[in-house]
Amino acid sequence: MRGSGVGSNEMTEKQNLWGGRFTEAPDKTFAEFNDSFRFDRRLFAADVRASIAHANGLVSAEVLTRDEGNAITNSLQQLLESSTKDSGFLESNAEDVHSFIESKLVELIGDTGKKLHTGRSRNDQVATAFRLWLRENIDEIGHVVVGLQHALIAAADRHADAVLPGYTHLQRAQPVLWVHWCLAYFEMLRRDRERLEDVRKRVNILPLGSAALAGTSFPIDREAVARELDFEGVTRNSLDAVSDRDFAVEFVGACSLVMVHLSRMAEDLILYCSTEFGFVKLSDAVSTGSSLMPQKKNPDALELIRGKAGRVFGHHTALLATMKGLPLAYNKDMQEDKEAVFDTVDTVAWCLKVAAIVLDNLSLDEARTREAAARGFLNATELADYLVKKGVPFRTAHDTVGRAVLFAAEDGRELNDLSFEDFRKFSEEIGDEVLEALSLDRTLDSKSQVGGTSRRRVADALHAARATLEEYK
Ligand code: ARG
Repeated sequence: MRGSGVGSNEMTEKQNLWGGRFTEAPDKTFAEFNDSFRFDRRLFAADVRASIAHANGLVSAEVLTRDEGNAITNSLQQLLESSTKDSGFLESNAEDVHSFIESKLVELIGDTGKKLHTGRSRNDQVATAFRLWLRENIDEIGHVVVGLQHALIAAADRHADAVLPGYTHLQRAQPVLWVHWCLAYFEMLRRDRERLEDVRKRVNILPLGSAALAGTSFPIDREAVARELDFEGVTRNSLDAVSDRDFAVEFVGACSLVMVHLSRMAEDLILYCSTEFGFVKLSDAVSTGSSLMPQKKNPDALELIRGKAGRVFGHHTALLATMKGLPLAYNKDMQEDKEAVFDTVDTVAWCLKVAAIVLDNLSLDEARTREAAARGFLNATELADYLVKKGVPFRTAHDTVGRAVLFAAEDGRELNDLSFEDFRKFSEEIGDEVLEALSLDRTLDSKSQVGGTSRRRVADALHAARATLEEYK
């Protein structure tokens, strides 16, 4: 496209890893387009660690002398230290993190540094560093998930006896305990954590030793390298190893479900803190005002969590679309994996932390939620169940109660407001203990099987959830 008028048509002077067969310098605009250092420098520490293991592998294979190996590994360590001490260390116009590290190594020890890349390609190198980096970050996200689980338990404890209406179709359905609501999200996060652990197993396999695509011709003990880097095993096929990003797709998929859960929790709370519901008070610390309407207090923290879910789903779709139809083996398209995964890690961790802060600072208007749970015929199913226990077939009981609800509703009353005589108009089976049977407490406590919202079950479930958190430690 030279002379097309598009781009700068300036050439760059920088050193790269592959200049030998080139006679012209890369176009400046293309070089910037091609470079990944601005984002893949996040892999620096992981890539150095993997490089040290690779150097050790080369020494064991007697490809490098012990002295050469020591010079390389000591210098790599030194680079690692410099990167933690010197904030400007990772500023460079290097093509990518791999060429950056190699150039720094050669700066330190000259030609010996040029031997490190023996038997390796950036294709197996980047896959290795990426997996190492992701493994650590999966563990980190696991911790943050547990942090939110703690916040849910704390929020449950702060309102241990609170009752609120449960909804289906966003219509009042049956009363549930606030603790039950908290534990519903606890369960979602439990699955999220399990899913991340499961993904981690497939992340934690070493591709190094696959070289560019065909495997390495040096007798490197890949199992030993894997052990040194705490990988569970080594990849079995070099073509697959350098072109597999399933682990990244799976990871972002698992994170997408985390975001689905956070987004649903956000939506519940956004509704609950509206004037219409008035169940929940959010702290000023996680709300914002309006530049125009002085009365406003908006749930921005929750709205951003809900919104950022879309961003993570986008990364998932992007990764799938990038990988689809790529011929074996490595293709540069795959460089697009980094930003999707990095941003997913950042976004999910951030949302989890903010969600915990929102919960830590939230309070429930228990009188109002109890009142809401007692109005709107949330005990209608209870009356049907009551009739069933008297021997009425459920379908008949359903119809009977439906008519009783209609009667009460037309009169602006609840089922509890009906007199014994009113009830008898609908069924001969109804006894005078019916009102007691329809009380809020009885309505809750009848849901006494595993997973139900009876006070005993929920106390047990809360206890079990605490035990789960203990096990995580
Ligand atoms: N920056 C590249 C990536 O992220 C590293 C691998 C490049 N390999 C290559 N042969 N160009 O995928």
